[in-house]
Amino acid sequence: MSNILRRGRLASTPDEDIMEFTSSMKSDKWIFDADIMVDFAHTIMLKEQGIIKEEDCSRILRGLLRIREEGIEKLDHTYEDIHISLESRLIDMVGEDVGGRMHSGRSRNDEVATCIRLTLREEMLALMEELHVLRNTLCSLAAENIETLMPGFTHLQHAQPTTLAHHLIAHMDALGRDMDRLRSAYSRVNLCPLGAAAFASTGFNIDRERTRQLLGFDGLVENSMDAVSSRDFLIEGTAVLTNLVINLSKMAEELVIWSTSEFAFIELDDRYASTSSIMPQKKNPDTAELLRGKSGVVVGSLMALVTTCKALPLSYNRDLQEATPNMWKAMETARSSVRMMEGMIRTMKINKEVTASKSVMGFTTATELADTLVRVTGIPFRTAHQIVGVLARGEEDVLMQQIDAVADKVLGVKLSSKGLTEEMICEALDPISNIKKRKVIGGPAFEEMEQAIMRRKRTMQQEDKEISALKNGSEASLNALVELVKRYIKHDQCDQQM
Ligand code: ARG
Repeated sequence: MSNILRRGRLASTPDEDIMEFTSSMKSDKWIFDADIMVDFAHTIMLKEQGIIKEEDCSRILRGLLRIREEGIEKLDHTYEDIHISLESRLIDMVGEDVGGRMHSGRSRNDEVATCIRLTLREEMLALMEELHVLRNTLCSLAAENIETLMPGFTHLQHAQPTTLAHHLIAHMDALGRDMDRLRSAYSRVNLCPLGAAAFASTGFNIDRERTRQLLGFDGLVENSMDAVSSRDFLIEGTAVLTNLVINLSKMAEELVIWSTSEFAFIELDDRYASTSSIMPQKKNPDTAELLRGKSGVVVGSLMALVTTCKALPLSYNRDLQEATPNMWKAMETARSSVRMMEGMIRTMKINKEVTASKSVMGFTTATELADTLVRVTGIPFRTAHQIVGVLARGEEDVLMQQIDAVADKVLGVKLSSKGLTEEMICEALDPISNIKKRKVIGGPAFEEMEQAIMRRKRTMQQEDKEISALKNGSEASLNALVELVKRYIKHDQCDQQM
């Protein structure tokens, strides 16, 4: 048996069915790049600590660099995971006397935890960028639609007039909290478990601080048992994604509803639509429907993840292998959902005449009329609510005459005698004046919305800077690590020529 892992302790080889059941090779494609980086950092640290010789270090690094260039396809996929497959390929290349030294002072347990955290860090950064673009698109579209009237809904019933800008900023703000949660979770992901080895750390004189720094982690997962066994960062990360896709699913649902002939508020760009195989006239909002549907995949991943982690004793257990792919599935789904939503929002056509004409449908100005009765005549709001409620039952237009008739019945007083005029009623029933009056902070009034958008544009600039700083920091560390690797290799080539 030539398997470098099994040849000692184990006498028989698992058949294909057993291998298929136990191997993580398929989902390890996610951590291939990270694994090479982790190997680079560990090998350099081993050399710096005098645990391996400089020439062995260089040869290992050269082999790793080649494996990196060849890509994951060249690896033997019959091994139980990427770590062993990669180490075995390295030993094939540089011989066991050299390659067989790379795994000193390390276990796959700390190795895999480090690879997952490194990969997740990069994925989270990419998601932050994509989410930022989506928030920007919502903000720009809102800026163009400060005066676009539309009905606001509660219970999906026409409620009060508002503007499209007001509606879009509501979604932008909800996604802003997802961004905050993402960045907070990131701070607990970007910590280094390397050096914990199997769980009890190691007797080799390794330098955990050095590998942390080489890989660009912000800190250590200090306790070596905690380092190899905790996956709360995966649960937290997937929970953040769950919240995000639930928010996106709400937006997707609105896009679907708004695309119906009944609403006709928007038309999605053709590239996000599909048609029917039988009904030639159909334009279906499939991308929005799928986005709504795929949120279920993320929720399911979270459930699978927490259930896998539940009640696991310390420290490493192989069950953990089953936890990780849920994170990748959730991440892939969340990231593509964010991109699809951004594209749909950016390219959709808004039927402003329709939204404006429907903004008053269903007596949406009733609240403002009741408020006007209170402000002008001094009657209690509850009484005004009753009067306008009775008016809302009727079919006819609301005029001074009708109000007086109802008020007389309910209150025994005509409100025209208390200063209410036809002009005031007209104003209360006008959707634009409704909106203009709602100028408290967070309301849809045009000037308030303008201010709100200005404030958000400033926040977005800051957000952009912070995400770039995180991204540049991570990139700089990994680039520096690769440069260091290349210097070691070059140095070794010079020595060999002499
Ligand atoms: N494929 C494994 C995982 O994802 C790597 C660690 C294996 N460790 C072990 N002791 N068998 O968890």
